[in-house]
Amino acid sequence: MKKRIFSGAQPTGQLHIGNYLGALKNWVALQDEYESFYCIVNLHAITLPQDPKVLRQKTLDLARIYLAAGIDPEKSTVFIQSDVPEHAELAWILSCIARMGELERMTQFKDKGKGNSERAGVGLFSYPVLMASDILLYQTDLVPIGKDQKQHLELTRDLAERFNRDFGETFRIPEPFIPPVGANILSLQEPAKKMSKSDENANGSIFLLDDADTITKKIKRAVTDSGTDIRFDQSRPAINNLLTIFQLLTGKSAADCESHFEGKGYGHFKAELAETIVEFLRPFQEKIKEYDEIELDKILKTGAQKARSIASETLNTVYEKMGIN
Ligand code: TYM
Repeated sequence: MKKRIFSGAQPTGQLHIGNYLGALKNWVALQDEYESFYCIVNLHAITLPQDPKVLRQKTLDLARIYLAAGIDPEKSTVFIQSDVPEHAELAWILSCIARMGELERMTQFKDKGKGNSERAGVGLFSYPVLMASDILLYQTDLVPIGKDQKQHLELTRDLAERFNRDFGETFRIPEPFIPPVGANILSLQEPAKKMSKSDENANGSIFLLDDADTITKKIKRAVTDSGTDIRFDQSRPAINNLLTIFQLLTGKSAADCESHFEGKGYGHFKAELAETIVEFLRPFQEKIKEYDEIELDKILKTGAQKARSIASETLNTVYEKMGIN
C-alpha cells in the first residue's frame, strides 16, 4: 500500500512563489509515490475576516492553481475542506484534548493576532487544532509544508500521541516534509521576513499570477545586501533568497548557479532572474484558464467523495473510542 500525504493552502490573498517553492512544487513531485490529498482549506481562511463572494471565488481559483501547478486529479485527491464536514467535527474533539498553553506558544497566532489576544478571534487561536484534524483524519504519513508550518505539525503529532495514549491506538503519527532548499522564501523588500500572502506591500512577493512587467519591476526593486558578488551566503539574506529562487526554478546545483553568474553584477543577475520567473510562470498562467467551472466542480465533488469515505471512517473510530457512538 502507498503511504499517504495530506497538505493544503488557504484561499486567501494571492498565492506567491514562496507557496509554490515551499509546498506546491513538492506536492506535485510526491504525488506519484504517495496517495495524496490536497485540500483547499476555506475553513482556515475565515479565522480572519473574509468577504463571502471573494472567498468563494478564491476557493475555486486556488483549485485551478493546484491543477495548473501540476497536481493531477487522476492521481491525487483535490477537494474543498468544508465539503468534508468531518474536518470541523474532529477539530472539536481535538480541541477538547489540546491545552491552552500549547496553543499559546504557536508563533503564527502571535503574529496574526498581532500580540493582542484580547481582540484576536477564538478561531485564530484554535486554528492549529483544525489543521491537526485535517491531517489526522486521513491517517497521514507525510505532510509537505514550508518552514512556517513546522510548529503546527509538531502540535499535530503531540495531539495524536495524547489521543492514542488516552483512548488507544487510533491515529498514525505524521512526519513533516520540509524541503532542504526553498522552505522559507523571504520577502523581496524585507528579507528578514518570509514572503507572505498577508504582506501589505505587494512588492515583497512574486504572485503566481503576476504579469511579466510586474515581475520584472518587482525583481528590479528587490532589496540587495552589501557586497557585489552573486553567490550563496547566509550572511547576505537578500541575495541568498534571490539565488535560491533562481536555483529552484532552473533546477541547477548551487555551484552551477554561482559559476553561471561569476563576474556578473546585480543588473545582469536580476534581469536573468526576472526572465526565468516569467518563462516559468507563462505555461502555468496559460493552463489556469483551461479549467471551466463545470469541470472544476466535477473534480472537487469527486475529490470530496473520496476524502469523505476515509475521513468518516477515522471519525467513527474516534467516536467509538471515546464512548460517543
Ligand atoms: P498557507 O496557505 O499559508 O501556505 C501554503 C503552503 O505554503 C508554504 N509557505 C511557504 N513556503 C516557503 N516560503 C514561504 N515564504 C512560504 N509561505 C508559505 C506554507 O508553509 C504552506 O505549506 N495552515 C496552512 C494550511 C493548512 C495545512 C493543513 C497545511 C491547513 N491545514 C494541513 C498542511 C496540512 C497555511 O496556512 O498555509
